[in-house]
Amino acid sequence: MRTPIIAGNWKMNKGPKEAAELINALKPLVKDAKATVVVCVPAVDYAAAKTALRGSKIKLGAQNVHYKESGAFTGELSAAMLKEAGVEYVIIGHSERRQYFGETDETVNLRVQAAVEGGLIPIICVGEKKEQREAGYTDALVAYQTLIALTGLTEDQIKKVIIAYEPVWAIGTGLTATDEQANETIGVIRSAIQMKYGKRVSDKVRIQYGGSMNPKNVNGLMAQSEIDGGLIGGASLKAEDFAKVVNFE
Ligand code: PGA
Repeated sequence: MRTPIIAGNWKMNKGPKEAAELINALKPLVKDAKATVVVCVPAVDYAAAKTALRGSKIKLGAQNVHYKESGAFTGELSAAMLKEAGVEYVIIGHSERRQYFGETDETVNLRVQAAVEGGLIPIICVGEKKEQREAGYTDALVAYQTLIALTGLTEDQIKKVIIAYEPVWAIGTGLTATDEQANETIGVIRSAIQMKYGKRVSDKVRIQYGGSMNPKNVNGLMAQSEIDGGLIGGASLKAEDFAKVVNFE
């Protein structure tokens, strides 16, 4: 019912030359993918990536967007700039942005609104830290993070956003949530959306799992009823590995 979506988050890896090489290697390997495929590349790679992506269905994604249209915001990029550069998807509120760059639920929400208004599809990241899971706060936290991020959007806009559930303790650590843990928490996120916006909306929202997802664990995770895709860090940097995730069974 929901088309799966697999997105690569390259983080601060690969300049334009390597970006083109990776995309060119990836293209033939994912040409028959059933899933929507996205590569979220560093900003300096947009032009090279756009050229390399010609003739493929792989979509271009960014890793952040600012919430103002223009102005004195050194180092930031607006939704209109991303759009003009050919970007269609944008990761917002990744835990690394929250942890190292001071992003809050409120700024995440502003960025989500700016992205949607600017015609981009946000991939909104939520997830708990290890101590929050151990203290039993996971469900309340992810529900809150999700609803705050969606504030101000219309129901039709919400249907099109992507949520990525990324337990912080599983990112880049080799630790993955079990299939059941990931499914259960994604179910909590969907219920939170349902309670506020109704089932017609919550049934449409695609919710990914992220955190050490790789060719070995992708099939188990994707077999879960609530999991609609993945946000892939480390394993998106090698064409063969990312293709195996994209072509999950
Ligand atoms: P990882 O990163 O796959 O390397 O754990 C996922 C992410 O941070 O989006």
